Amino acid sequence: MTVLVSERLTIAVEGDVPVVRRRARELAQAAHFDAFASAAITTAASELSRNALVHGGGGYAVVEHVSDGLREGLRLVFVDEGPGILDIDRALRGGYSTGRSLGLGLSGSRRLVDEFHVETSLGKGTRVEVVKWARFRR
Ligand SMILES: Nc1ncnc2c1ncn2[C@@H]1O[C@H](COP(=O)(O)OP(=O)(O)OP(=O)(O)O)[C@@H](O)[C@H]1O
Ligand SMILES: [Mg+2]
Repeated sequence: MTVLVSERLTIAVEGDVPVVRRRARELAQAAHFDAFASAAITTAASELSRNALVHGGGGYAVVEHVSDGLREGLRLVFVDEGPGILDIDRALRGGYSTGRSLGLGLSGSRRLVDEFHVETSLGKGTRVEVVKWARFRR
């Protein structure tokens, strides 16, 4: 995998969420995402940023424009040093929230991307990595 652009964005206040979202959308355009794929990755970018902020107490995102030699895509990584996800299986199934919310951010994001990995450790934090590829063309 070749990394064409890589940026680290701090997630510390509510206003950082739309910044991550906007950068994801700009990189999706650079990677030739169509409108559906761009909407999908920007939605995942805001949901996962908001989770890092609200549940993880803040952290950072790494947004990257990548290529595997055949396709261009986006890799987004969200890192926090919060409490970790208590019940990761339930959280991934959806409809489970420790807040007063729908509990669809994590499960919905998973469906919107091509690759999805969560590492979470109680008391230590959470790292979510997603990759989405532009549809092959040329
Ligand atoms: N970064 C994180 N750190 C700790 N817990 C998390 C993190 N991300 C998710 N969780 C836990 O997983 C649950 C499910 O997350 P999910 O994003 O699906 O729902 P939500 O954030 O509660 O609601 P919403 O539908 O508004 O996103 C959360 O309620 C929270 O308990
Ligand atoms: Mg959420």
